[in-house]
Amino acid sequence: LRASFASKARKENSQNFNYQLQPQASYKVAVLGAAGGIGQPLALLIKMSPLVSDLHLYDIANVKGVAADISHCNTPSQVRDFTGASELANCLKGVDVVVIPAGVPRKPGMTRDDLFNINAGIVRDLVSAVADNCPGAFIQIISNPVNSTVPIAAEVLTQKGVYDPKKLFGVTTLDVVRANTFVAQRKNLKLIDVDVPVVGGHAGITILPLLSKTRPSASFTDEEVEELTVRIQNAGTEVVEAKAGAGSATLSMAYAAARFVESSLRALDGDGDVYECSFVQSDLTDLPFFASRVKLGRKGIEALIPSDLQGLTDYEQKALEALKPELKASIDKGIAFAQKQP
Ligand code: NAD
Ligand code: LMR
Repeated sequence: LRASFASKARKENSQNFNYQLQPQASYKVAVLGAAGGIGQPLALLIKMSPLVSDLHLYDIANVKGVAADISHCNTPSQVRDFTGASELANCLKGVDVVVIPAGVPRKPGMTRDDLFNINAGIVRDLVSAVADNCPGAFIQIISNPVNSTVPIAAEVLTQKGVYDPKKLFGVTTLDVVRANTFVAQRKNLKLIDVDVPVVGGHAGITILPLLSKTRPSASFTDEEVEELTVRIQNAGTEVVEAKAGAGSATLSMAYAAARFVESSLRALDGDGDVYECSFVQSDLTDLPFFASRVKLGRKGIEALIPSDLQGLTDYEQKALEALKPELKASIDKGIAFAQKQP
């Protein structure tokens, strides 16, 4: 009887997580800032991935309990905890994907740029350790202001002689997740089908949803375009205000980042049909970094997708020109910060 229960449980587990249909778990993922509001649910979601063999959780405090807790889920990956700078190198050795949600979140009344003074140094130091210990990894930056922290990371990697622009990503998936949700609600579309590319950057007007490129194609009145664009641009602030001082988006962010990690792992695993929006080094505009759809492959970004920026509506074209000065200033601020460091 016991054997029959065990066999039934095995079968149910494998069906729940689809193991029988999935390739062998073999990728190592590290989350830096894993004890935080994003880090904890993100770590849990990554633990659900059948592609992950090792999950390394790093924070400056409180990560032991998070790792012990998550490690009891009966999914393939081995979970290890790492606390403080002295354990960071061991956390990173041999890792394929590093996700960085370390840093402070906004409170009501703040912009993402108000986080720069604290988070810029955190990202610089973590990326420096990534450069020393796993320079070939995909690096995915969540810490705000993304418009500056990604250029900081690029500069640090350049200084260390290991910058591969195909493997550095600002995580803007939450903007796409939000755009898909709001558009599906507004137009009564089946949520699972909706895909709205979001380009530019990740702050205020630099977040530019291209509603005219919505798939399946949908038509919007001028009022709908204005209302949806503003809602998507202000969605982070909507959450910050609802949380009233207790932080910013964590759960939807963890969901979005887990999607981006899973897409990256599928690409690493040889899936030739993986596309995501991300804030990356780019030549699609005159700005050095720009969020757009990218095709992911085993070596990182295989191609930027220029077609989304062709045939824009007047509204989108004006919004694109309007976002450039702010985005450029944030990029320049990040690069200047990283260049003036000893
Ligand atoms: P949080 O304060 O809940 O967690 C941050 C974690 O980072 C904490 O556990 C803290 O101990 C850790 N940390 C701080 N310094 C560290 C260091 N040097 N090394 C390792 N860990 C360190 O914050 P949160 O809500 O998880 O948000 C984290 C960041 O993500 C914020 O900057 C926030 O603005 C940003 N964010 C970005 C997006 C996006 O779309 N890209 C969405 C939501 C939040
Ligand atoms: C978001 O878009 O939710 C994040 O960038 C967090 C924030 O400060 O709004």
